[in-house]
Amino acid sequence: MSIQRLMERAPVIPVLEVSETSQAVPLARALVAGGLPIIEITLRTDAAFGVIEAINRDVPDATVGAGTVTRPEQFDRARDAGAQFTVGPGATETLLGAAQDRGMDFLPGVVTPAEILRAQEADWQYLKFFPAEPFGGARALQSLHGPFPDVKFCPTGGVNVHNYRDYLDLPNVLCVGGSWVAPKSLVERGDWQRITELAGQATGRYPAATDEAGNNEADSGSDVGEEDPGSATEILYGGD
Ligand code: 3PG
Repeated sequence: MSIQRLMERAPVIPVLEVSETSQAVPLARALVAGGLPIIEITLRTDAAFGVIEAINRDVPDATVGAGTVTRPEQFDRARDAGAQFTVGPGATETLLGAAQDRGMDFLPGVVTPAEILRAQEADWQYLKFFPAEPFGGARALQSLHGPFPDVKFCPTGGVNVHNYRDYLDLPNVLCVGGSWVAPKSLVERGDWQRITELAGQATGRYPAATDEAGNNEADSGSDVGEEDPGSATEILYGGD
């Protein structure tokens, strides 16, 4: 699947740092159940390649990729593990060339106009805008649309339940990346239902959870990953 199709397939690419291989399959299944089948596993843990392998083998409805690719040889290891796409925080000539040589789908990170121009010169028009929030967020991306009308972005880094819609509303954004749909605390305690619920809220598949007073958690300013894991889960799980 091309990077363009990946970016069009789901509004959010969960960006995950997974430390235990045993967490891989239930985590991926939880995200797929919530409507997020495109999953990025960052190469920041010893378990990462095993996690990619397990998801690729046991969760056929997921499309799993390797993130945090910073060296050419990681493309080979990622492919051997079954990664179907790759993501990197930056876009050097070396990395772009290595991805091209291997025919590997690669979503490289950029921030500045010069970086975008260099990526375009190497034939890339689907790019990650990283780190999105510290580098100007949705307003910066909006400004980049004028000079780069053909470039489509996946903003990542500081994107969360409170701001992801601002990005998705932009004409040059196809999807966003983020860890908020599967916070580490929930992964560590194996709260797969809550992760499905967070994914489902991001895709509109499930209504946003409300507290007892009927307030929307997404608008409350709290960290959704740290919410009471029991809230609204049973009701939401009654669906498909
Ligand atoms: C990362 O660097 O891990 C990704 O960009 C995700 O960032 P986030 O945790 O701010 O969503």
